[in-house]
Amino acid sequence: MVEKIKTCVFISGTGSNLESIIKSSRDYIFPIKIKLIISNNINARGIKLAKKYSIPYKFFSSKNKKIFERNSLFEIKKRKIKFLCLAGFMKKLSSNFIKSFGYKIINIHPSLLPKYKGLNTYKRVLKNKEKYSGCTVHFVTPKLDSGKIILQKKVLINKNDTEKSLQRKILLQEHKLYPQSIISIFR
Ligand code: GAR
Repeated sequence: MVEKIKTCVFISGTGSNLESIIKSSRDYIFPIKIKLIISNNINARGIKLAKKYSIPYKFFSSKNKKIFERNSLFEIKKRKIKFLCLAGFMKKLSSNFIKSFGYKIINIHPSLLPKYKGLNTYKRVLKNKEKYSGCTVHFVTPKLDSGKIILQKKVLINKNDTEKSLQRKILLQEHKLYPQSIISIFR
């Protein structure tokens, strides 16, 4: 059997993308295995998922970004992790961290990048009366939401869509797009 790539997932919240990656990674042909989950939020539901699926996890506060990154890097190197997925991780990583890690880092974002980088994407998309929105998986660079795009999925916006309904619709697509993107990277 081909050895799976040792992977770490960074989260800040619900962790529904984390769960979709965990489920996909149980398939023996899926290219990665999650060896560590790091949360910068002690109350993240994603931590409960780590426990549920018996995956090692760490909480590090990101109030001091330097210390957060130093602690994370230590744990990552210790476990020989060679791939990092950001799944609802709401902090920007420093160029120093990205360089020191030295392997691929990917992120999922709830818009059709390069449109609507940053926060409050659903609100801005609806305000601009866009016909479509969607989600993007991309490589992480020091510039926010700007690295090379791996895969995107378009979602049609209805007249009666609200921030909540749009978020729900896009999230459903994210859960498919993230595993597909990981497969496409290592194919
Ligand atoms: C997802 O919609 C993800 O695209 C977004 O946060 C949500 C996390 O949900 N990420 C960003 O906005 C990053 N800038 P989850 O915790 O249930 O996976």
